Amino acid sequence: MSSLFDLNNQSAYQRWREQKLEQAPASAANLIVEVNDPLKLTVSEHAALLEKCRRSNMVIYAARQFSADKNIARKIGSQFGLENLDANWLAGEDGISEIKVSSTSDQPRQAYIPYTNKPIKWHTDGYYNTTEHRIRGMLLHCVHSAATGGVNRLMDHEMVYLLMRDENPEFIRALSAPDVMTIPARTDDDGVARAEQSGPVFSVDENGKLHMRYTARTRSIEWKQDELSRAAVASLEQLLGSASPYIYGARLESGMGLLCNNVLHDRSGFNDNPGAPRLLYRARYYDRIAGS
Ligand SMILES: [Fe+2]
Repeated sequence: MSSLFDLNNQSAYQRWREQKLEQAPASAANLIVEVNDPLKLTVSEHAALLEKCRRSNMVIYAARQFSADKNIARKIGSQFGLENLDANWLAGEDGISEIKVSSTSDQPRQAYIPYTNKPIKWHTDGYYNTTEHRIRGMLLHCVHSAATGGVNRLMDHEMVYLLMRDENPEFIRALSAPDVMTIPARTDDDGVARAEQSGPVFSVDENGKLHMRYTARTRSIEWKQDELSRAAVASLEQLLGSASPYIYGARLESGMGLLCNNVLHDRSGFNDNPGAPRLLYRARYYDRIAGS
């Protein structure tokens, strides 16, 4: 089907662009919706969460009450049509990952950055996945926040596309090439052993929805080396390093969670409170948030 993200589809794209800019959240506070119990969202709470996701592909809920049950991630996701979990071998058999600092004895998690207190650069989740296993939806639920740090920066991938297309539509063309970004065969940050993966940064799925695959890592990633691809990647790096009003910084506190269509995000380093170390549950889905 024809998508408004098709470079030839100017009129539909321009209408969408105007609306996207008009509806963009003014600050991180605009991404937050308070809810009573995220396991039993009321009709109006659910509508408020979905409205944010429609505008900017993400919302942060802040729950007044919740249990520290690992099933919470799945139960929240299922209220938004998120059912098909991407299971990796570190996630545990139910496909929900516990993101926390692993002790040195806890191999192999200890070797992977998400399971340390180190900063994580800009990325979308599952950037090394095949097209069939694209991560479209993601949920991150905070049980305990860190003593200091652990802030996420967030940017709607559709806004990244828009700003880059404004700058130079040829950048979009270059970043949509199926061989622009290659992850060599190896074991990745989450400990998943896999074959070499080449793919686009921007792609449009069968429903006309935009997907983005990206990591700002410089090790273990090969970018296509023609002039236009290099300029496009440099422009994207510059955008993510800028003080863009469309980059939102937020720290998930206990009971808060990010529900999103796999938007770009990073994480600052942090220090744990030994009595209650930082703990987040993460669920990755092949589905997008229903109705967003
Ligand atoms: Fe991530």
